[in-house]
Amino acid sequence: MKLSLAVGAALLGSALADIDPIVIKGSKFFYSSNNTQFYIRGVAYQQDYSSNGTTNGSNSYKDPLADATACQRDVPILQELNTNTIRVYAVDPTADHDECMQLLADAGIYVISDLSDPTQSIDRNDPRWEVSLYNRYTSVIDKLAKYNNTLGFFAGNEVSNTVNTTDASAFVKAAVRDMKAYLREKNYRSMGVGYATNDDSTIRENMADYFNCESSDDGIDFWGYNIYSWCGDSSYQKSGYQARTEEFRNYSVPVFFAEYGCNEVQPRKFTEVKALFGDNMNDVWSGGIVYMYFQEANDYGLVSIIDSTSVSKLSDFSYYSSEIASASPSGTNKASYTPTNSALQSCPAVNSAWQAVPTPLPPTPNEELCDCMDAAAACVVKDSVSSAKYADLFSVICGYTECDGVAANGTTGSYGAYGMCNPKQQINFLLNKYYVEQSEKASACDFGGSATTTATTRATGSCSSLMKEAGSEGTGSVTSNPTGTAGSSSSSSSSSSSSGVGAPKTACLVVNVGSLQLGVYAITACVAGFAMVLL
Ligand SMILES: *[C@@H]1O[C@H](CO)[C@@H](O)[C@H](O)[C@H]1NC(C)=O
Ligand SMILES: *[C@@H]1O[C@H](CO)[C@@H](O)[C@H](O)[C@H]1NC(C)=O
Ligand SMILES: *[C@@H]1O[C@H](CO)[C@@H](O)[C@H](O)[C@H]1NC(C)=O
Ligand SMILES: *[C@@H]1O[C@H](CO)[C@@H](O)[C@H](O)[C@H]1NC(C)=O
Ligand SMILES: *[C@@H]1O[C@H](CO)[C@@H](O)[C@H](O)[C@H]1NC(C)=O
Ligand SMILES: *[C@@H]1O[C@H](CO)[C@@H](O)[C@H](O)[C@H]1NC(C)=O
Ligand SMILES: *[C@@H]1O[C@H](CO)[C@@H](O)[C@H](O)[C@H]1NC(C)=O
Repeated sequence: MKLSLAVGAALLGSALADIDPIVIKGSKFFYSSNNTQFYIRGVAYQQDYSSNGTTNGSNSYKDPLADATACQRDVPILQELNTNTIRVYAVDPTADHDECMQLLADAGIYVISDLSDPTQSIDRNDPRWEVSLYNRYTSVIDKLAKYNNTLGFFAGNEVSNTVNTTDASAFVKAAVRDMKAYLREKNYRSMGVGYATNDDSTIRENMADYFNCESSDDGIDFWGYNIYSWCGDSSYQKSGYQARTEEFRNYSVPVFFAEYGCNEVQPRKFTEVKALFGDNMNDVWSGGIVYMYFQEANDYGLVSIIDSTSVSKLSDFSYYSSEIASASPSGTNKASYTPTNSALQSCPAVNSAWQAVPTPLPPTPNEELCDCMDAAAACVVKDSVSSAKYADLFSVICGYTECDGVAANGTTGSYGAYGMCNPKQQINFLLNKYYVEQSEKASACDFGGSATTTATTRATGSCSSLMKEAGSEGTGSVTSNPTGTAGSSSSSSSSSSSSGVGAPKTACLVVNVGSLQLGVYAITACVAGFAMVLL
């Protein structure tokens, strides 16, 4: 406590020493106040994260920007490593980040933050872009946007990792689109929203094309590449770096390594640093983020934590330190730089190698619409029905009524207006839809005792117009902007019976709609595990 008070006082004293925000021009980063190009000399900085699937609600991660004591310990060590950027994977939007962000700013260190957390992210096996995630993402942006050393955000990390999970990229791209729109709507300083991709040879080119095609409003502002292909004493050619560099030579936005540092050969000598910052690559790549600061079970650490005030430097530390110390490409002068890579890529065609249509993308989550619909539903699921039963219930209801209104299919681009609501709301939409279709006969609101009639709030005003856009089938397109932002009190209270399960698990329910016959509806139950895997 004494320590953090002291830091607080120091904060006041240094508040005037301002860090220069980073801006994007063409495919490069620059300092905003002069013409110097900015190359990321980054370190991944998050402890004990995504180790092996033991999630525990909000206790599933430790926010690295909320522990001022650890920041005091680590910032000087990051400086020894010539670090100018850290990547954090999960931050707690309710925590206080002032002290860490100021310590980092004073050290000239910028932050790129992922927007998801281990329990709230786009699930590659059952992708959704939904209200609870939208609220999580925007609340992280709200929390970090005020700091001048926030460089940008990742809307996803390694979500699609096989051909048959590429449909999930449609949902990630919708998240990118909506977060970019949110930053504009809130008049925040211009900050990029990107994606961190894995290096899967079967999808990497289509991935890069997909996120940078069709429209720059929907596309990524930068592309992060998690790449572990340079192991030991490799070379520019042998490592695949040369081929990757050629692939990105004409990319219209900045690209950098969002993670690198193969550990198959140890100690890691980081000879790739010379290549990455050298003349073969520094015209295409904006540096990279070495994985990672903390030594964990996966054995990628530069340091090992001793206690809250001390660390021990591992052998990788000294190798990386000496390599990164000489990484100083002069880069391009902003004033004389005219981007030539302005063309977007062509979108990949949907075929056996790629399964996401470029357009339409999933709709923007609209909490107000979900709440309005829910409040107006006269037939709803009983509170006593556990959310574990929802999958079965979906399957039964969809045997009786068309479920397109809650569909979300990235391969066909068919999205129901209510596909982004929480599972309970989706069930209520369907139950009520069937009830109305059956002229509100009491027997149509039963489903084996799972459903019950209830008093409703008549939709008026914006509720009425939003629901009119969605249509009674839920298949209309809703063009009005969401008005609800973070702090989704209404939606969480309306899903009280499922709160023990948590949004990501219940949100994994999906109904494959397509046939009308009872019993053929496939139900994908939630698959436990993270969509965000570091490696
Ligand atoms: C531009 O600004 C950055 C950050 O303030 C600084 O590190 C860099 O040296 C400056 N460039 C020049 C040419 O002064
Ligand atoms: C998860 O990680 C812990 C600590 O690293 C280890 O003890 C445990 O066996 C792991 N569990 C699984 C299922 O891999
Ligand atoms: C999960 O969280 C609950 C309540 O916060 C706690 O009681 C429990 O011990 C935690 N479990 C693990 C494995 O951390
Ligand atoms: C960020 O930079 C702007 C302009 O340089 C400055 O007015 C503002 O006070 C800075 N914000 C913080 C939190 O330092
Ligand atoms: C996706 O493909 C992998 C093999 O590449 C297979 O093991 C997996 O079961 C498939 N998943 C689905 C959901 O089809
Ligand atoms: C990049 O653009 C140049 C000039 O427009 C063109 O000649 C070249 O073929 C392009 N390279 C790739 C890899 O697309
Ligand atoms: C999307 O629709 C296609 C075509 O109907 C189907 O093959 C695929 O399984 C659907 N995907 C999901 C996730 O429902």
